[in-house]
Amino acid sequence: MKAQAIIPAAGEGTRMGSDTPKIFLPLAGVPMIVHTLRAFEACASVDKVVLVVHPEYASEYRSLVEDHGLTKVKEYITGGVRRSESVGNGLTYVDSDCGIIVVHDGARPLIKPNLIDKAVAQCVTDRAVVLGVPVKQTIKKINALEGTVERTLEREQLWEIQTPQVFHRDLLVEAYEHAKSLDVTDDASLVEQIGIKVKVMQGDYFNIKVTTPDDVAIAEKLLAMESVG
Ligand code: C5P
Repeated sequence: MKAQAIIPAAGEGTRMGSDTPKIFLPLAGVPMIVHTLRAFEACASVDKVVLVVHPEYASEYRSLVEDHGLTKVKEYITGGVRRSESVGNGLTYVDSDCGIIVVHDGARPLIKPNLIDKAVAQCVTDRAVVLGVPVKQTIKKINALEGTVERTLEREQLWEIQTPQVFHRDLLVEAYEHAKSLDVTDDASLVEQIGIKVKVMQGDYFNIKVTTPDDVAIAEKLLAMESVG
């Protein structure tokens, strides 16, 4: 089944505290978004990438794609205020004969091409698949106003969910059409809301989302390790 990707990369990067979107920050000398797009260039299952961009920097994304020879980026779409709006904007730009949509954060530059392919293969039968890793820390629900613990969550049941998240196209489109609110932090949340079981596949602890300056330092180290190993 043909698969195409939507890559939301339109965030402001507020938590990074930089003037330009975090997606342009250099990691091991190459802008973050280029690492992410290279993984899609190298994977076998995805033949086209819809890149969701920040409107003020549209030409910068295009230049990067051209300069780095990233042939699968075929569409540049303007993002919305929230991540889910950005992905929603990209949905109609997936080819009409494409049955599977892969959504991946532009800010996860350490994704491995073979994991994208595995998630796509799993999605053929499971229809909705997310990558995730078991939580290693103790997670507590807190009362933010009081700064006190409300309760401790059972760690055995907790997974940190990542992208790629892969869906049969009709499911994802239906989920966005029926969404009561787009105030969600991933696409699977909307698919869950229409009553679909989402398969969780073991991801990779290295597949971090680069959000704050300390993540940049970690990503640099991980990339350096990969280039050695
Ligand atoms: O904000 P967060 O780090 O969760 O964003 C995850 C991904 O979604 C990033 O790649 C970011 O650029 C993208 N995003 C977007 N449009 C927004 C907000 C975030 O495309 N309005």
